[in-house]
Amino acid sequence: RLIILDFGSQYTQLIARRIRELHVFCEIHPYTHAPNLVLTDDILGVILSGSPCSVREEGAPNPDLSHIQGHVPLLGVCYGAQLLAQQGGGEVTPATIREYGRARLSQLDEASPLLEGLHAESQVWMSHGDTIQTLPAGYDIIASTPEVAVAAFKIEGQDTYGIQFHPEVTHTTEGKQLLHNFVVNICQCAQSWTPDHFVDSAVQALQHTIGPDDQVILGLSGGVDSSVAALLLHRAIGPRLHGIFVDNGLLRQDEFATVLKAYEGLGLNVTGVNAAPEFYAALVGLTDPEAKRKAIGRTFIEVFDREAHKVEGAAWLAQGTIYPDVIESVSVKGPAVTIKSHHNVGGLPDDMNLKVVEPLRMLFKDEVREVGAALGLPGEILNRHPFPGPGLGIRILGDITPEKVDLLQRADNVFINLLKEHDLYSKVWQAGAMLLPIQSVGVMGDERTYEQVVALRAVTSVDGMTADWAHLPYEFLAEVSNKIINQVRGINRVVYDISSKPPATIEWE
Ligand code: XMP
Repeated sequence: RLIILDFGSQYTQLIARRIRELHVFCEIHPYTHAPNLVLTDDILGVILSGSPCSVREEGAPNPDLSHIQGHVPLLGVCYGAQLLAQQGGGEVTPATIREYGRARLSQLDEASPLLEGLHAESQVWMSHGDTIQTLPAGYDIIASTPEVAVAAFKIEGQDTYGIQFHPEVTHTTEGKQLLHNFVVNICQCAQSWTPDHFVDSAVQALQHTIGPDDQVILGLSGGVDSSVAALLLHRAIGPRLHGIFVDNGLLRQDEFATVLKAYEGLGLNVTGVNAAPEFYAALVGLTDPEAKRKAIGRTFIEVFDREAHKVEGAAWLAQGTIYPDVIESVSVKGPAVTIKSHHNVGGLPDDMNLKVVEPLRMLFKDEVREVGAALGLPGEILNRHPFPGPGLGIRILGDITPEKVDLLQRADNVFINLLKEHDLYSKVWQAGAMLLPIQSVGVMGDERTYEQVVALRAVTSVDGMTADWAHLPYEFLAEVSNKIINQVRGINRVVYDISSKPPATIEWE
């Protein structure tokens, strides 16, 4: 495996994903772990990430790397490269010319193992405020651009490299080749990190960890993560996995029945709990979004707790936590680290003394999908858009009633079905309808109407942290609008949300 030491760059996770795409396992550690990093035999290389800091700043991350450098292959990217140069006695100065954006390699050492197969004129992506002015003795330049003399270097007698551009972003057109050269050729990592391999080793590990009589409880939501976690556990321990799927009355139209049926079809031991009335009762009169979230969360815990207590011999609580939730974030500067204010994680029934098992904690989202596919998860669950835990509860602005839920479910269903019919569903990251707390005038036949408005929301995104509104075709939007207004009695106006995140959010509450 490979270790990435994170200095707080926004691109660190992207480096890890690119390496995983090469079917090589890698882990992200905060740079503060560097002094204690023990180079066991299975660590075949180390990468130093970029950073929002400058190596020239007082207090900038500057860990001792002497027990790593020269002992295993080492690649510094951007800040990582500048750190290596500075620690060796070179000079890093503020860049006087723009070193941001696209550049072309004007000269490169084709014989360097790091640059094998790359071409002069190849485009690279620069993003730094500092630049390596002079290199220490024993550091050789292996690539330059017209503006940046030290685009890449190698230290003589070591497999230590530095690059000032970012190989992990797609704007660096041959970045994937460079990472392949480092990871596969220089570090000699085996490309064995495949979904099947993961499934085999995860199943073995689960069988080893979970005692032969232990029962495991898992909250299922119909989402990808919890469903894949369930399948993996099911393969490891069969019916000793007890899935609990709660209908909170805020799911999409027919979703509870459809998903429950899919789970049963997969042979999973799942209990469906119809708790809609309890949730509606807890929500009566609440209009503040956070108050609604809390009420939904609290009710979920009560219902889940009650169901969990029915499982005799329960020893474990499984969760669908994935790698981005686990990575220790490095906060070196300002808001480079985004804080998620909401989480799916329900409460632990503490009097039950359950241990926690998280079979997906090393996987990125796209890997979870690949593993799900390898385990035979049907496409309808595998490719499902993200859906918030509080469901339609935060898409009905203002107070929630069963009637409003029904209205929104029907409008949302028209939108989602048409997205699927027009082959647009998989092209957007998330989509749904919002029920607005206002009425407006319309005309239907000869009659004046005074009914509700729905807003359609569809976004493109990579991880939900930032998002752009999806540029859906006008004809498509027209069809959705017509169909909703014609079919959903009580709605006489449809609008489309054209705000990006930030400054807007994806959900309206
Ligand atoms: P926002 O609205 O913050 O949403 O741009 C980003 C992503 O998070 C989802 N979301 C939630 N998920 N509980 C959840 O489990 C919540 O309270 C919650 N609020 C938003 C949202 O659907 C989007 O995918």
